[in-house]
Amino acid sequence: MNNRSIPSHTPVLLSETLNALGVQPGGRYIDCTIGGGGHAAAILENSSPGGQLLGIDADPKALEAAKERLQHYKESALLVNDNFTHLQSICIKYDFFPVHGILFDLGLSSLQLNSEGRGFSFQHDAPLDMRFSPDQKVSAADIVNTASETKLAQIIKTYGEERQSSRIARNIIEGRPVRTTRQLAHLIEKTVGRRGKIHPATRTFQALRIAVNHELEYIESALRQAIDLLGYEGRLVVISYHSLEDRIVKQFMQREAKGCICPPSTPVCVCGHKPRIRLINKKVITPAETEIKNNPRSRSAKLRAAESITAQGSYYANADDQAFLSVAKSRGWRRPALIQKIRMVFLAA
Ligand SMILES: C[S@@+](CC[C@H](N)C(=O)[O-])C[C@H]1O[C@@H](n2cnc3c(N)ncnc32)[C@H](O)[C@@H]1O
Repeated sequence: MNNRSIPSHTPVLLSETLNALGVQPGGRYIDCTIGGGGHAAAILENSSPGGQLLGIDADPKALEAAKERLQHYKESALLVNDNFTHLQSICIKYDFFPVHGILFDLGLSSLQLNSEGRGFSFQHDAPLDMRFSPDQKVSAADIVNTASETKLAQIIKTYGEERQSSRIARNIIEGRPVRTTRQLAHLIEKTVGRRGKIHPATRTFQALRIAVNHELEYIESALRQAIDLLGYEGRLVVISYHSLEDRIVKQFMQREAKGCICPPSTPVCVCGHKPRIRLINKKVITPAETEIKNNPRSRSAKLRAAESITAQGSYYANADDQAFLSVAKSRGWRRPALIQKIRMVFLAA
């Protein structure tokens, strides 16, 4: 439930996410980007009774909002203010593994975008900050006012996929110091002019936000850690919002779903790579027209999901469950986790 004082964030691809995670009563889940807690609330609701959730966010303000939203699930939710690049150590610290599902809903939330003083949007005039966490040392203003022209152009080109990156970088250097969101937006508008519906500063703002928060650098290592934390048949679900993120997720999942990854010219496999996941959706899942109409921010969302096919750990905590697992193994049952789910529902009835 939303607290009235907190502007809400509408969770994107909600039912698709719950389906892809295979949320079930008694399941254990990690939301690595809990934001306003929209997905997390639905996960907790659908995993009740007995469900547990570990929620992580780099932004302490997001965590406050999530705490409000999840107040009815206090007993079942553990919230941690950290970067998901530390996923494995967080789970070890709180003894929270193996898990049934892990969600990454990348990027920033509407709470952050609409937050007036944080500099994520040029809709509000604010200092150029853009840090998810106040612990980060470098803000967008630091990059804009100290980076070399080449470095600035490279950031804007790579992370913003902006064709006019060199011109924008040159004019930023000439216009320094650039301290506020509106100052930067005007400078970019003056540099490249205005065409179409999208403001010409949008891509540069995206680029700076990605650079400030090292957004692309952390994804692959976090996904690797996530796979290690999944139990057998546990699900990994990732929602991304631009092609740079989606490319990293897609390539990672395709590689982890494959056996040998030696170059085609290698006559005999030398990599010894083994598939660790199975792709759930070969084709990326995108929002339906109605969702885009109701929540335009969802328009660029892409969901990819995979299932662990290796048994890193076991969901079977007690002696009864361990005994069940050994019977399942000795009889060669192929999907012990699924059988266990059915058994749990049966026993609960
Ligand atoms: C799109 S929002 C998530 C919204 C959430 N699913 C909901 O329904 O309310 C993304 C969140 O991820 C957080 N985030 C982004 N990168 C992060 C990282 N490397 N570590 C931890 N949190 C991160 C942001 O602070 C933001 O709150």
